[in-house]
Amino acid sequence: MRVLGLETSCDETAAAVYDGASGLLAHEIYSQVDLHAAYGGVVPELASRDHLRKLLPLLEKVVADAGGPAAVQGIAYTSGPGLVGALLVGAAVARSLAYAWRVPCIGVHHMEGHLLAPLLEQDRPGFPFVALLVSGGHTLLAEVQGLGQYRILGSSLDDAAGEAFDKTAKLLGLGYPGGPQLAALAQRGRPGVFSFPRPLTERPGLDFSFSGLKTAVVVALRGLALDDQTRADAALAFEEAVVDTLVIKCRRAMQQTRCGHLVIAGGVGANLQLREALSDAGRKYGWGVSYPRIEFCTDNGAMIAHAGYHRLCAGQREPGIIRARPRWPLTELLETG
Ligand code: KG4
Ligand code: ZN
Repeated sequence: MRVLGLETSCDETAAAVYDGASGLLAHEIYSQVDLHAAYGGVVPELASRDHLRKLLPLLEKVVADAGGPAAVQGIAYTSGPGLVGALLVGAAVARSLAYAWRVPCIGVHHMEGHLLAPLLEQDRPGFPFVALLVSGGHTLLAEVQGLGQYRILGSSLDDAAGEAFDKTAKLLGLGYPGGPQLAALAQRGRPGVFSFPRPLTERPGLDFSFSGLKTAVVVALRGLALDDQTRADAALAFEEAVVDTLVIKCRRAMQQTRCGHLVIAGGVGANLQLREALSDAGRKYGWGVSYPRIEFCTDNGAMIAHAGYHRLCAGQREPGIIRARPRWPLTELLETG
């Protein structure tokens, strides 16, 4: 089956075509970063309007690259969670096209898209695996037994890991989106100048709490001249604290589930220090570790086409409605038989 996937949940407009036999045939991403940069964060109304401008040209390109509309046998769109106006653009376009082309259509959970993105790669892991999902809106560890079979082992009690990166980047005077900029600044940092806590690692359990870290950064920098080197030193210590915390919790999750494979997904999964630290832990403790390629860690259409493909192949269908779900707990997803 050949599936067109559309992603418009936040600040990336993306489209892709995934084919069950040949894999990913085409994908395109347009990032709205420049549009929102002046405001220091995503402006929902501007995001929706830009999706309206960009989605159809992107969609036409991927469909043409993948052999034209006649070959498309299903359509998947991000139905939630996300910004409601932004979601509605993808939902309405997907549903209308499905009606016109007489093909089935399915609303995909954005986080399921991220969670299954490592399966887009050649060396894809088999089920079961433990997934560390670290994005701008979510941080969670889940045991994945199969499609839709997600047991949440722990999640963030406050800020998501990506959110913590973004807020701390702002504190350090960096622009939006903060995660990649903070990571770049940290490369010039000197180890050991600052040290920040590893939240909730002293207690048992797999939940996370990252909101205290930015306060720790504020307190440590109080009264200091914020020159480039000091900012880079703080960025490095912050990144080390987040990475270390995530590694400790992943190790705990692997011990608890006795699972042999760890999968990392979501925007923070693009962080090279995190990838390296988890690969090292995998080698040390004997787990397999998989990631999507960097561009499929952050939001993209390939992960939506791919997740939609699996759900459509499992026979799942949605009635002919346009469905945008700004809040949609991952645990409400249906298992597929
Ligand atoms: O998955 P994603 O693209 O969107 C959501 O679904 O939220 O994740 C975006 C988040 C942002 O918070 C961004 O700052 C963070 O991922 N991020 C990074 C890096 N690249 C993106 N954080 C740390 N290091 C990076 N290299
Ligand atoms: Zn995302």
